[in-house]
Parts: sequence; C-alpha cells; structure tokens
Amino acid sequence: MTTPWGEFELSRFPEDPRDRLRAWDASDAYLLRHLAEEGVPITGTVVVVGDRWGALVTALARHRPTQITDSFLSQEATRANLARAGVEPGAVGLLTTQDPPPERVDVLLVRVPKSLALLEDQLLRLAPAVHAGTVVVGTGMVKEIHTSTLQLFERILGPTRTSLARQKARLIFCTPDPALERPANRWPYSYALPEGVGAVSGRTVVNHAGVFCADRLDIGTRFFLEHLPAGTRGARVVDLGCGNGVVGTAVAVADPQAEVLFVDESFQAVASAEATYKANGVPGHAEFRVGDGLAGVAPGSVDLVLNNPPFHSHQATTDATAWRMFAGAKRALRPGGELWVIGNRHLGYHVTLKRLFGNSRLVASDPKFVVLKAVKRG
Ligand SMILES: C[S@@+](CC[C@H](N)C(=O)[O-])C[C@H]1O[C@@H](n2cnc3c(N)ncnc32)[C@H](O)[C@@H]1O
Repeated sequence: MTTPWGEFELSRFPEDPRDRLRAWDASDAYLLRHLAEEGVPITGTVVVVGDRWGALVTALARHRPTQITDSFLSQEATRANLARAGVEPGAVGLLTTQDPPPERVDVLLVRVPKSLALLEDQLLRLAPAVHAGTVVVGTGMVKEIHTSTLQLFERILGPTRTSLARQKARLIFCTPDPALERPANRWPYSYALPEGVGAVSGRTVVNHAGVFCADRLDIGTRFFLEHLPAGTRGARVVDLGCGNGVVGTAVAVADPQAEVLFVDESFQAVASAEATYKANGVPGHAEFRVGDGLAGVAPGSVDLVLNNPPFHSHQATTDATAWRMFAGAKRALRPGGELWVIGNRHLGYHVTLKRLFGNSRLVASDPKFVVLKAVKRG
C-alpha cells in the first residue's frame, strides 16, 4: 500500500498464499490521502476504530495511534503488519472493543464496521473522551455508508457531512458537539429465548453489540438447538464460533458435568458467551477463549464440536472459514469424537465433511437447514 507515510507490505490473517484479497481498500487509502493533503493535525491521542487488517495504524504508526478492534484476526494481522514495517513494539496501542477506551481522544478515525450496532456502541463508549477540538473522520466504501450510519455520528458526536465518492469510497466528517444529549447505550442487550428450543427454552441470552443475531434467535441456531446431541455425559465439548454462546450454554444446562469451551474470533462474542453462561447460573466447567477456530486446542483432546459456521456474501471467505473450522475440529477431536454442523442446505457442507472426515450423516433437515454429523475415525 502506497501512502503519504511510505510504502507498506500488508497481509491479512491467517495468511493464505492462495488468498488474493488485499489487506486494505480504497477507503483506507482515501482517508490517509485526506489526512496528508489537508494537513490534518495528527497530534495527541490518536484512536483508530475498525481498522480491518491494520493498514491505518501501520501507516500512521509514527503518530503512536491506538487501535480498537472487535476481531482477533484483525489484531493478529495488525501485529504482523506492524512487525513487517519495523514498527517498535508498543508504538501502537492494541485495544479490544471490550477494553476501557482512552480517557481523552484528540483524533478519532473510524473505518465504518459492517455492524451498525457495533458502530453505535463504540461511538457511545468513546463519546465521553471526545472534546470540541477532536478531529473525527470516518471512512468506508460507498455501499457501507448509509443514512443510518451518518445519523449515528450526528446523534452521538455532532454535526456530520460526507465527502464526494472517490474510487467507490467516501469520508465522513463530524464536528463534535460536547453539549449534545447522547442516547443511552442499549448494549449489552438481553432477551429471553422462546419455548421449544430444548434445554435453554425460556432462558436468557446476553448480546454485546455486533454479535451474530444480537436481538433475536437466528432461525438456523434455533433449528440446531432443537437437534443437539443428547447424552453428552461429562464430555469435553467445544462451541466453535460461539457468538452469544447459546449453543454451548444449552449443552451445559442439559449436562452440568460437560466441560464446555466457548471459542470465537470476536471479543464481543466471547464476552457475550460468558455473560450468557453466567446469566443461566450453570454449575459446570466452562472456558471462554478468543482465538482463530480451534488453533491452540490440543489434538485429540475433544469429544464433541458444535459449529454454526460463519457465512458472508463473499463466497470465497465463506468456504475458507468453514473449511478451516472443520479441519481444526478433525484435528482437535479424539478418535470416535463428533463434529455437528448446522448450515443452509445450499452450502453443501456434507461434501466438505465427506472429503475431510470420510463420512457425513444427516441428523435433521427442514426445507432451509440441515444438521450434519461427521465422526473422526481412528
Ligand atoms: C453464524 S455465527 C454462529 C454464532 C452462534 N454459534 C449461533 O449459532 O448463534 C458464526 C460465528 O463464527 C465466528 N467466527 C468467524 N470466524 C471465526 C474464526 N476464524 N474463529 C472463531 N470464530 C469465528 C463469528 O464471529 C460468529 O460469531
């Protein structure tokens, strides 16, 4: 990436040589060019929210920025990109969306996240640190910036306008108004599950902003809850890509002897899973871990993996993540251990499971979803 601060070699995480997707886009480039061309003073405490793969903080490293991210994968990519650029450790602060934000912010750069709820939560958390002199600039691709996005800046920070589009990217300029009466932060948000969803019927789910299906039960997850394996009897279980933790909590409620590991790459998700588990007063053993799939879980150490894989509109991303999750499950399972997967019928996960495990059985189906099970053979 060529920027007014120099040229940087950037990659995503995990690195995949077949992956031709760049680790920055036109919205990163537009923001950096704007800061340089307009001579925007980048002094004091510089905070960068939503930097996808660390392109912004790597380019701006000499201004000692602090990055705030919800994503473990983004944070790992940022660490690697900073190291490759020769940035001294500690020059860039790496915070998660769950950490307390800095007390004063002089420059706030926002790469608009995919989740409007996460943007709302982050702006509300940062607003007390923003003052009348804070420079606030947002950036995103045109298709990611809606009227509702601009309204959030306007309602939480102050008067907001946008730039012209350049290479399908747009900037957001906001003039903070400290006298503004901000709305209350509605996150984290809890709701009660409906009846008829197995062990967790009528129980509470806690959702931090930005987690998958944060304000109602997803219909796929619902179908999974209705068909989870019975009789786990003290098994070591992983809720892989746990989101708000409803699946792993269902296992723990049904079998208090089970040892459940909740894993997600989203800091918001893992915090939600822990809150959901605690809200249900389950007496068993549980561990909550932010990480990339099952990396770091000892091979052959798990009896059961439950997975509702992520799917994005970008097909390449979809397949790659599901494949990595299934392959990780195969490694982590003991011989005879099982991976249970819920997916949209059209995603064809049975083909992937057959290729990886040599078997795939249909546990349940409806016109939209399938629950599949693959067994690790000796
Ligand atoms: C479709 S959601 C399922 C959430 C929850 N299990 C449910 O059924 O409601 C997929 C989850 O996978 C997580 N995820 C995506 N990539 C991941 C990765 N590389 N490692 C761990 N979790 C990941 C997402 O953050 C998201 O919470």
